[in-house]
Amino acid sequence: MVIDAGHRVVMPGFVDAHTHPVFAGNRANEFEQRTAGATYREISARGGGIRSTVRATRNASLNDLVRIGKRYSEWFLRGGTTTIEAKSGYGLTIEDELKILRAIKQLDQETPLNYVPTFLGAHDIPFEYKTRRQMYVSLVINEMLPRVAEEKLAEYCDVFCENEVFTNDETWEILSAARCHGLGLRIHADQLSLSGGAKLAAELNATTADHLEHTDSEGIAALKAAKIQPVLLPGAVYALGSNRYPPAREMIDAGLAVVLATDFNPGSSPTPSMATILSIACTQMKMTPAEAITAATINAAYSLGRGDEIGSLEKGKRADFVIHDCEDYRELPYFFGIEHAQQVFVSGKLAFARS
Ligand code: NIG
Ligand code: FE
Repeated sequence: MVIDAGHRVVMPGFVDAHTHPVFAGNRANEFEQRTAGATYREISARGGGIRSTVRATRNASLNDLVRIGKRYSEWFLRGGTTTIEAKSGYGLTIEDELKILRAIKQLDQETPLNYVPTFLGAHDIPFEYKTRRQMYVSLVINEMLPRVAEEKLAEYCDVFCENEVFTNDETWEILSAARCHGLGLRIHADQLSLSGGAKLAAELNATTADHLEHTDSEGIAALKAAKIQPVLLPGAVYALGSNRYPPAREMIDAGLAVVLATDFNPGSSPTPSMATILSIACTQMKMTPAEAITAATINAAYSLGRGDEIGSLEKGKRADFVIHDCEDYRELPYFFGIEHAQQVFVSGKLAFARS
């Protein structure tokens, strides 16, 4: 098959290695409260935040979640993304976590977008376990993980490791158990404070450490020594109105294979747009356009164990590619606020075309 790209940029599809794409409702109300000065942490402390999305998602059926998820699936594709890592984490009961992972499986089968599933039962301590957190950790380890593994519903396990969420010890327990079930490990680390998440990721030999807004030089050295890929999520910094971006330059200079992802979720980062992330990475973290694109394609593919399948245009790889409506790749982060993808192909088949 020959396709005339008309002198436009042809690139591998974006690989978005950190997303939370299955949830009900949205949090535009909290967004408005933040414009009036409330912080993300204050909103969660009063029962909003992740917990409000958990309430809505528990009330949704599998079919509801698939229907809602298809809308977002289209958003990813129209931005030139062809593979996403997709986390559960808005159920926080066995049945609701399984429901989300089944929705991810169905979305993978029924849409052209490819999904790599991650179990994030340890996204928050649910309201009903607030005073008995150890029991929730046991539930994740002894009941959720075995079911997820048995039904082969996830490739990775993730934990939100943070002072007010899961402690380093709890994260250690959960991820060690996940490894025994054959799952790869990812960690939400050092997002809101320097709690030692990067070092913990290194001790656990995780595949990725994600966020890292507060990681210091010691943390970076630990990631380097353990060959862990940092997954940077500048959309969450931007959308929370912060200016504390992760130290991308220091990581690149240390020789780390940095990954960029959207963190698409209804709270901290409501964008599925990799073009937007590239723009923020270049302007706020001083990554070059070439570094940003590398982080959003081939580095991301390796972080999902798919470096030999996707992430670059090479013979023998899957034909996941995008024709962008520009003549120079540097225009992707430079002209911001628009989607450049004109035609998106997954496995050689047209999955999206802009009219
Ligand atoms: O990656 N940090 C934890 N989880 C998400 C936020 C989820 C939410 O607010 O709904 C994140 O930023
Ligand atoms: Fe996240």
